[in-house]
Amino acid sequence: MLDPIVQFNSWMEDAKRAGIDEPTAMALATADIQGRPSARMVLLKHADEHGFVFYTNLESAKAAQLKVNPQAELCFYWGPLTRQVRITGPVERTTDAEADAYFATRPRLSQIGAWASQQSRPMRGGYFELEQACAMVALRYPLGPVPRPPFWSGYRVVPKRIEFWKQKPFRRHERVVYIRDGGAWQEQWLFP
Ligand SMILES: Cc1cc2nc3c(=O)[nH]c(=O)nc-3n(C[C@H](O)[C@H](O)[C@H](O)COP(=O)(O)O)c2cc1C
Repeated sequence: MLDPIVQFNSWMEDAKRAGIDEPTAMALATADIQGRPSARMVLLKHADEHGFVFYTNLESAKAAQLKVNPQAELCFYWGPLTRQVRITGPVERTTDAEADAYFATRPRLSQIGAWASQQSRPMRGGYFELEQACAMVALRYPLGPVPRPPFWSGYRVVPKRIEFWKQKPFRRHERVVYIRDGGAWQEQWLFP
């Protein structure tokens, strides 16, 4: 049986080699306490046996949902390869050290943007308010490293279920799901 994490990283490499635009882009589905769903795209920054990591604003709508309902599904679709992967499981925060290390690798203007954006909240002054906020942050950190904002960090989706879907002619698609049972993965083929 395949290790689904190895399989995922192999499909990700295929997507990168295929020249797909934003191969790490994935839909992140969360739900509020009433079960009302939301989905949006985020970028995968790391994947290993511990989980699938993305970074965001901790005061965003998604963060508010993850606080009350720390469960998510991720969905990748690589069109030119006609492959889909879905990853489902509980969500935990990355450590501050991991977030600091990743933030330090970001371009300076993205770091400034992270400080300036009150993600998901209304802009009363229109788009100019963001540009003004970026200018203020740039003045605050004119030189040297920009520290990670305390309201910006990472989440890790800990996979309990990973499904690989591959298009085949005449709707005879291949659909294989891996379910984590304790430490081990169980493989199950599904009708498409
Ligand atoms: C391709 C793509 C990648 C994105 N990557 C991220 C990301 O890594 N982190 C993030 O917070 N938002 C990212 N966004 C913006 C989100 O889709 C979303 O607009 C934002 O996070 C606010 O979502 P929320 O209000 O549901 O919290 C990305 C958008 C696109 C289209």
